[in-house]
Amino acid sequence: MIPFIFLLQFTVSVASTSLNDSSDAIISQIKDGREQRELDYFKLTLQWPGTVCKGTDSCCSSNACCNRSGGFADFTIHGLWPDYNDGTWPSCCNGTSFDEKEIHTLLDPLKKYWPSLSCSSSTCHGGKGSFWAHEWEKHGTCSYPVIRDEYSYFLTTLNVFFKYNVTKVLNDAGYLPSNTEKYPLGGIVSAVENAFHVTPSLACSEGALQELRLCFYKDLKPRDCVQTDSQNGIISSNFSCPQYVSLPAIDPSGNIFKFVDSSRQYPSA
Ligand SMILES: *[C@@H]1O[C@H](CO)[C@@H](O)[C@H](O)[C@H]1NC(C)=O
Ligand SMILES: *[C@@H]1O[C@H](CO)[C@@H](O)[C@H](O)[C@H]1NC(C)=O
Ligand SMILES: *[C@@H]1O[C@H](CO)[C@@H](O)[C@H](O)[C@H]1NC(C)=O
Ligand SMILES: *[C@@H]1O[C@H](CO)[C@@H](O)[C@H](O)[C@H]1NC(C)=O
Ligand SMILES: *[C@@H]1O[C@H](CO)[C@@H](O)[C@H](O)[C@H]1NC(C)=O
Repeated sequence: MIPFIFLLQFTVSVASTSLNDSSDAIISQIKDGREQRELDYFKLTLQWPGTVCKGTDSCCSSNACCNRSGGFADFTIHGLWPDYNDGTWPSCCNGTSFDEKEIHTLLDPLKKYWPSLSCSSSTCHGGKGSFWAHEWEKHGTCSYPVIRDEYSYFLTTLNVFFKYNVTKVLNDAGYLPSNTEKYPLGGIVSAVENAFHVTPSLACSEGALQELRLCFYKDLKPRDCVQTDSQNGIISSNFSCPQYVSLPAIDPSGNIFKFVDSSRQYPSA
């Protein structure tokens, strides 16, 4: 556990040295020349592999869904997303390309807690790349100036993920992975509220919990997630979640793949 202690200590310095208000109003330049204003808050988006992996329709070495020996009983990281209070968000803010060398010291925890659940993802430069490349280029670059570089982006995200263990909160409340049970959405929300004193937002797919988001001020203190719809109408705070949701288990012996349409668009993915 020593590495985690190291990580946690690091967060403090990342947060405290980089905070500066609108006096500093750094405007990130995005590719087409539009200016992007500084973020209002962060959204840590977690994904439930049991739900995401049901949509898997092709396998490859980089898709952790296909690694049946792995098994997943925990939420994994989707990304740390800068957001605006009006429900919109910036994306692809900088020409800075992802470079895996920058995060080579973080690869072990990243593989474990931030696995790719698909074969490849789109980059901001019109190409295909890794999931990490997608998250850094689309979202991470827009964290500036609160988070100033790729290494800090991944480190900060891991730290926040370690600090707010949603899997533990749900397990402790009796919400365990299951292919038969359904759990009350309000109970899941209450469990998180009781643990962290803030309201998360949830997204579902076909009645199964797919994403759970926790929101944070720029100093990484928790805050409620914004409950408004986005400008383009894609996402609402409880996107498509029914009153009772499932938390599907991955069967380690295989047969987890329904080969359903994996081109579905998830909110703010
Ligand atoms: C914010 O930025 C200004 C100008 O760069 C600097 O003088 C000031 O000390 C900074 N404030 C904090 C709290 O870091
Ligand atoms: C598959 O799972 C094993 C066991 O957890 C792990 O060692 C390996 O790195 C995983 N491979 C991929 C591609 O995720
Ligand atoms: C944005 O791009 C500039 C110049 O290309 C670079 O100096 C800066 O570090 C980048 N910012 C981030 C957050 O990557
Ligand atoms: C979160 O809690 C679960 C259940 O207690 C545990 O298995 C897991 O290792 C924890 N995750 C982290 C990142 O500490
Ligand atoms: C979902 O959101 C709508 C409005 O945003 C609200 O009226 C409704 O009660 C919410 N449903 C649940 C299950 O939280």
